Amino acid sequence: MKNVGCLFTWDSIKKCIHHQYNIEILIEDGIIIDMGPSIEKGNHSIDCNYKLVTPGFIDSHTHPVFFQGREEEYAQRLSGISYQEIAKKGGGILSSVEGVRNATIDTLVDKLNLRMDRFLQNGTTTVEAKSGYGLSTDSELKSLEVIQRVSQNHSIDIIPTFMGAHAFPPEYSGNHDAYVDLICNEMIPAVSEQGIAKYCDVFCEEGYFDLDQTSRILKTGKNYDLIPRIHADEFRDSGAAELAAELECVSADHLMAVNGKGIQVLSVKNVTGTLLPGTTFFLGSHQYAPARRMIEAGVPVALASDYNPGSSHIQSMSFILVLACLHLHMSIEEAMIASTWQGAVSLGLENQVGSIEIGKKADIIVWDVEKPIDVVYFCPGANIRHVIKNGMQIF
Ligand code: NIG
Ligand code: FE
Repeated sequence: MKNVGCLFTWDSIKKCIHHQYNIEILIEDGIIIDMGPSIEKGNHSIDCNYKLVTPGFIDSHTHPVFFQGREEEYAQRLSGISYQEIAKKGGGILSSVEGVRNATIDTLVDKLNLRMDRFLQNGTTTVEAKSGYGLSTDSELKSLEVIQRVSQNHSIDIIPTFMGAHAFPPEYSGNHDAYVDLICNEMIPAVSEQGIAKYCDVFCEEGYFDLDQTSRILKTGKNYDLIPRIHADEFRDSGAAELAAELECVSADHLMAVNGKGIQVLSVKNVTGTLLPGTTFFLGSHQYAPARRMIEAGVPVALASDYNPGSSHIQSMSFILVLACLHLHMSIEEAMIASTWQGAVSLGLENQVGSIEIGKKADIIVWDVEKPIDVVYFCPGANIRHVIKNGMQIF
């Protein structure tokens, strides 16, 4: 790849941003094997003159295994009914459960495949994907199998997370603790036996899983080698960030309502704060996570889409960057690193992806603009000229 344009990446050795003009990248068998001013080897080159070149996006928080969209709920929200009110009436997460339970694996695979195509077209080359719309042992295992089947045949990398603790299914509405028992005694052992999921996630929030239930589920998951992540302090501060630190979760996500103590302990325990400004935006809310306070306190911050049919029907990470710059008051440099390198760190993949360096996968975006700031100046995100995944030019 020739580039007298601008290469922008994290440098994992010097631990700083690397910003360089006039550099070539040599790729072999999907891996970056050399970088320098004039390598002039290789049999196919991509001209990156006057182009910005960045790592592919790492979208470290998505809920993409669902049957159909929830446009009617969206229309209700536009007429003034809140997401929480819709959820109280049995809508929200629960309205996606029947679809997943009744769908065949093949149908869900087809749908997920198309969604993964769209992620890749938008420059996302690695995506974390949660189960969590099945809420029964069979349907959760089915959702994870769908993720694995798509992952095996799609060039995008998908990292599976078990999220049986996304909501209480209708059959357990009168007995939440019995559902927690089911998760701990049946689902987690079965998920572990199935061997697909790498992470376990819980929606810790008022009306969903409380601190004790969350702690029990994540500790059980840990005993089965499922690494913990948390949906923490999304709408109300429930002390979930402190729990994330106590349990040494790799990531605490959302954090729109996180308190000062929560920020401090996330920093002390080096837990990634994964911020999802698309959710605030898509819910028409104004409660954005306090990103600047977190960055100033030393919390490592990642950005992700939270793509799901209810609260964030957004797949474009460029648009997430636009929101992060405008509403989280992050610089474009901070936002770029948060959506590439730090996402990879939170998924334990920083030795393979998340930066453009020798030895890393050649997962690269060539932008139709010249400078990092242009990515967000061209709202809702600059044009992408090429996406390269595992060294293959996707377009
Ligand atoms: O991350 N917070 C919990 N889960 C999703 C919402 C999913 C839905 O509405 O279907 C979220 O925002
Ligand atoms: Fe989420």
